[in-house]
This record gives sequence, C-alpha cells and structure tokens, in this order.
Amino acid sequence: MALRTVKLGVVDLKQVKAVLRRRLQLMSEGVHDRKVIVIVNGKGGVGKSSLAAALSAALSKTGLKVLLVEIDEQGNQDEDLGTAASGLADDGHAQAAALLEGKPFEPVGEARPNLSVIPGGPALQDVIEELYCQRRVAVNSGDPEDQFAWMGMYAAAIDPVRHLYDVIILDVAPGSEPLQLQALVAGDMTLVPTRSDPSSRKGLRTVARRFAQARQLNPLLRLLGVVIFATASSATRVQKKIKNQLAEDLNGAAPVMDQTIRHVEAAAVACRTHGAVPQELAVDTTADLDPAVRRSLRALAGDYRSLALEVLQAKAALDQETTQKKGAA
Ligand SMILES: Nc1ncnc2c1ncn2[C@@H]1O[C@H](COP(=O)(O)OP(=O)(O)OP(=O)(O)O)[C@@H](O)[C@H]1O
Ligand SMILES: [Mg+2]
Repeated sequence: MALRTVKLGVVDLKQVKAVLRRRLQLMSEGVHDRKVIVIVNGKGGVGKSSLAAALSAALSKTGLKVLLVEIDEQGNQDEDLGTAASGLADDGHAQAAALLEGKPFEPVGEARPNLSVIPGGPALQDVIEELYCQRRVAVNSGDPEDQFAWMGMYAAAIDPVRHLYDVIILDVAPGSEPLQLQALVAGDMTLVPTRSDPSSRKGLRTVARRFAQARQLNPLLRLLGVVIFATASSATRVQKKIKNQLAEDLNGAAPVMDQTIRHVEAAAVACRTHGAVPQELAVDTTADLDPAVRRSLRALAGDYRSLALEVLQAKAALDQETTQKKGAA
C-alpha cells in the first residue's frame, strides 16, 4: 500500500529552538539556577499529586515563591488544594493556550499566599495531540535540532517566567509519554514518588529511561530523590529492603529520601474532601473530623514537613556540587 503524505498543521518551533539553544549556552556557562522540580512516575496513583500539593504548600509557607503546574489532563489539583471552590480551576485552558497559541505561561491565581497555580484538565488533550503530531513531523526531519525541538515546548513556555519564582513544581500525568518528556526537558530536578509493589517499580524504570532521553536536551537534569509513598510498614528492615530494590532499579543512582510518607487512607480522603493539604487540615479546628483521623493527619503532616526540609537540603547539595564544579573549571 502506498503511503499518503499528510500535511500536518503544527505549531512553529522557531521560538522553542531559540530558547533551547540559549538554555544550553547558559548551562555551559554555569549560569542556570536549578528551580524546576518535576514530580513524575510512569505509574498512576503513586502519590504524585498529593506530594506536589503538600510540598508546594510547605515551601510557600516558608516564604518561597512557588508556582505549581499540573501537567495532567485529570486535573486532580482542584481537589488537593481546593482550587475549584475558590474559582481557580480552568480545566487546563490557560496552560493549553500558552503551549498552543503562544500566550504567556501565566497562573490563574494564588491558591495560597506565595503559591500560584496553573491547573491541568481536559483542555490538555489538545496539547497531547499537538505533541504527537510534532513527534511525527520530527521523525521525518533530517536536521537533528528539528528532531528534538518538539520535546522542548514546555521548557520554552516556562523559560520567560522562571525568574518570577523560587521554585516551580511540575505534577506530571502518568500515562502520557510526550508530556513526561516535555516536563523532564523543562525541569532541573526530579522527585519520584513510588509505592513498593512490583508495578510501581516498573513505572520507576520507565521514568529512568525517559530521564536518560531528556538529558540529551537537558544535561543539567538530576534525580533529586525517590520518595517511598504510602508505605504500610515503618519497620527499618522492610524499608531498607525497599530502598535497596529501588537503588537496583535505577542502577544504583537512586538517592532514596530518608523520610517516607505513611499510608493513612482516611486522612488522605479527608484532605481531598476538604481541599486542604495534611499540614493545613491537621490544625483546622473548624473541620469536623474523627479524632483518629485527626491524629493520622498530624502524623502525615509531620512526614510532609520533614520531607520538604529534606528536599531543600538535597537541592542545596546539588547547587553546591554545581558551584564546586564551576569553581574547579
Ligand atoms: N498518605 C496516604 N495514604 C494512603 N493513601 C493516600 C495517601 N495520600 C494519598 N493517598 C491516596 O492515593 C491515591 C493516589 O494519590 P495521588 O492522586 O496523589 O496519586 P497520583 O500519582 O497523582 O495519581 P495519578 O497517577 O492518577 O495522577 C488517592 O486516592 C489518594 O487519596
Ligand atoms: Mg496525579
């Protein structure tokens, strides 16, 4: 059967290529600050959105200026931060317009003081379709720059607003390979939540492969850490075994975070029902909560608070490593 040549109408990537070239230049000169954290795992339901919301809230509470972007057509952050009730949910339209129409990558508003949000939602389907088209066009290009440029559409959209924030957190969809690649090219560090079961570990290995692919365009990308999520056991021996398995999955290159997130389902459900993260709901005296749930919430809030601290320390260690390399060069 003869192949038909179909002309695809796709976004012009001239601007994207210019941004990617400039980023690589800045990276080689050592003047690219790490501030974009990608929360990603190829497996669904491993705690990405819960972690993204709790971490964003914890960091913004310390006075850091945070932007949370949900690169996911599911739009779960509406529940995690209660943004639907405060009129901040837009089904992903602002994000899609920035990617497809060249509009500024602007937040729809502040979900908390210092915490700006760009929600995800069904409008991102158009972005996903565009990315598949771009990838098909790229395959047929003889120019290596054209072959890779499509992966940098989010990097190019985020670039003009990077300077406005201290931390940018990307909460990425589990099922979309093009979106994950985009986020990994746009990001500076990844945080990978995982449960300890075999299928979550498979999702982790998928991320490791995409991570390697993204680094061709984004050589400064680093793994900030793996977070063991909703673990049923607090036994040191079991946790050590899980950590060893994870390190094996990532060829020994896995800094597994010391702080794990405990499994407390009723507390997690209460958070989504109230549109609040554990640190907020645990101290909300107006919320009608079962005393056992409140106790779990306090413990869960503690997990997230110390994880946020560990994330900041891991980030500082990466920054220091980069500064030392710069000094030695
Ligand atoms: N600490 C916890 N203990 C038990 N269950 C939890 C905990 N935190 C969140 N959950 C529940 O786990 C489920 C998955 O959480 P979450 O939505 O954060 O994962 P996700 O990786 O973002 O999922 P998706 O891949 O669908 O985007 C949710 O139903 C949530 O209520
Ligand atoms: Mg999610």
